[in-house]
Amino acid sequence: MATHLLTGASSGIGAALAHALHDRGDALVLLARHADRAAELTAAFPGATTLVGDLERPETLEASIGGSLPERLDSVLHVAGVVDLGPVADLRPDAWHRALTVNLAAPAELTRLALPALRSAGGRVVFVNSGAGLAASADWSAYAASKFGLRALADALRSEERSAGVRVTTVYPGRTATPMQKRVHEQEGAEYDEDAWIRPESVVTAVLTALDLPRDADLTDLRVRPGL
Ligand SMILES: NC(=O)c1ccc[n+]([C@@H]2O[C@H](COP(=O)([O-])OP(=O)(O)OC[C@H]3O[C@@H](n4cnc5c(N)ncnc54)[C@H](OP(=O)(O)O)[C@@H]3O)[C@@H](O)[C@H]2O)c1
Repeated sequence: MATHLLTGASSGIGAALAHALHDRGDALVLLARHADRAAELTAAFPGATTLVGDLERPETLEASIGGSLPERLDSVLHVAGVVDLGPVADLRPDAWHRALTVNLAAPAELTRLALPALRSAGGRVVFVNSGAGLAASADWSAYAASKFGLRALADALRSEERSAGVRVTTVYPGRTATPMQKRVHEQEGAEYDEDAWIRPESVVTAVLTALDLPRDADLTDLRVRPGL
């Protein structure tokens, strides 16, 4: 049975991915930001292991979860993320710090902690990036910078860990109908119509395709654009 460590399972793309993996009987290790969220995840995904760690404080992750990771991991799925929109003229250091910490430094630290288990299983690291990780638009500077950095993390990691049998995939979704996208519309002052955007389940299909690919081939980068 495959074992996956997943962030962001409480909402949006991460919740859809956790449901898909849980439904097919894979073992889940779910990172929650606090104990109440962990209890909700335990109820939503019976049999899953939950770990408590705040991605806004990556310097605490080694102490909080480092000793609780399984010995083998078939994948680490970095899905959690945050976005704060605003022009550079207005964005304060706390917004920059939050984006760069949750979206970049925390995935790096979690990957570092999980690498021994990934190497043992010949596992795969999946980074859920964004179209904003490929091109930065006005008002998206902090988020886009964090996602550009996430691409750099993925590309360097892929080169470093290839000989150890660890694969690395980045998925770049366009706008996807999740609570985050609803909040983005609120920040943009735009009306939100979830039917206009990618369904989280379609992003999940892309992630599962990378996870399930036979080892003679590799999927390194997947762009998922709205189809309508
Ligand atoms: N939605 C889109 O249009 C879109 C497009 C491209 C890429 N993406 C990317 O896709 C990923 C998932 O986005 P989504 O739309 O599904 O977002 P979402 O619905 O807002 O879910 C975000 C998840 O991240 C978790 N999280 C945030 N801060 C955390 C922290 N400090 N510690 C632990 N967990 C934390 C949240 O946990 P809590 O429930 O505890 O808050 C939640 O589970 C993100 O990386 C995002 O950048 C989204």
